[in-house]
Amino acid sequence: MDYSIAVIAGDGTGPEVVREGLKVLQAAAARAGFSYQLTHYDFGGARYLRTGETLPDSAIGELQEHDAIFLGAIGHPDVEPGVLELGILLKARFALDLYINLRPVKLFAGVETPIKDKGPKEIDFVVVRENTEGLYASTGGFLKKGTPDEIAVQESVNTRLGVERCLRYAFDYAGRKDRRGQLTLVGKTNVLTYAWDLWWRAFNEIGDSDYPRIKREYAHVDATCMWFVKNPEWFDVIVTDNMFGDIITDLGAMIQGGMGIAAGGNIHPGKIGMFEPIGGSAPKYTGQNVINPLAAVAAVQMLLDYLGQGEAASWVEQGIIHAIGKMESLSAGHMGMGTDQVGDLVAESVTKR
Ligand code: IPM
Ligand code: MN
Repeated sequence: MDYSIAVIAGDGTGPEVVREGLKVLQAAAARAGFSYQLTHYDFGGARYLRTGETLPDSAIGELQEHDAIFLGAIGHPDVEPGVLELGILLKARFALDLYINLRPVKLFAGVETPIKDKGPKEIDFVVVRENTEGLYASTGGFLKKGTPDEIAVQESVNTRLGVERCLRYAFDYAGRKDRRGQLTLVGKTNVLTYAWDLWWRAFNEIGDSDYPRIKREYAHVDATCMWFVKNPEWFDVIVTDNMFGDIITDLGAMIQGGMGIAAGGNIHPGKIGMFEPIGGSAPKYTGQNVINPLAAVAAVQMLLDYLGQGEAASWVEQGIIHAIGKMESLSAGHMGMGTDQVGDLVAESVTKR
């Protein structure tokens, strides 16, 4: 196999963590016996400040040619909030139709969780977030803007096609060998009675007709937040809409040990996937070799899994666990070693095992 991978290192500590992720990718490729070509792109805050460009349309066409995208971090202290989020991250999701946002919530051995009496056995689930519709579809508008009668409407868009393709991905995921065959729909059927009626019907119809072996569960989104803290072991695979998925995965990242370890993927199955550490660009740590690269390494693990290199992905996971065992802490500046040494530990483990 020969893969073509686009790399957007981005801003702040993005390039530092991407460097470690690529180190691990190289070790995994050498051992698994596949090759890959990297193409680096400089999209991010610095380029925006220089040229006024975020993610130009011409780049979308180019990115589309790759099998996967590895993204470091987007966010610059001198750029007003929203510009890069909308212009780069959300633009890529919509323009490339990356309709799945995949976020594993897995507590690795040796990582501290704020949840009392819960360990790696209890905290191990995956959130499948719809990534192109819902409240993120940007439909709505103002009426009488700026007057005392002003009205602002923000609509949640749910198409049968969009809901169905997301559900099917989640059902398939719940059927994987490394999952337990349970899919929980997280919604708000008791209040949002149009959107969640569609989700609920599609969930049950598809489940009955095509996935009879997958056990179906349902939980309201507010109750889900409670269960994440009280009984996270109840979850295996969760499927939910864009906004709910955004919110509950931040809670998920915290119970798995924080932003130093959480990764996510934006995926159009079979076409392209964009993988990223969830933590931001952490400008104050830039260039000091103190940032934790493990979330970026975990993004590489997801990228490998997406490419069908499941075994290589599991070596990377073992490598992450190996590195955690040697680190004093997962927090930037307190790891007891440098960013590059953490990457070395994972890469060595991948090479040796
Ligand atoms: C995420 C982020 C984005 C989102 C922002 C940066 C636009 O919070 O990936 O979860 O809201 O989806
Ligand atoms: Mn978010």
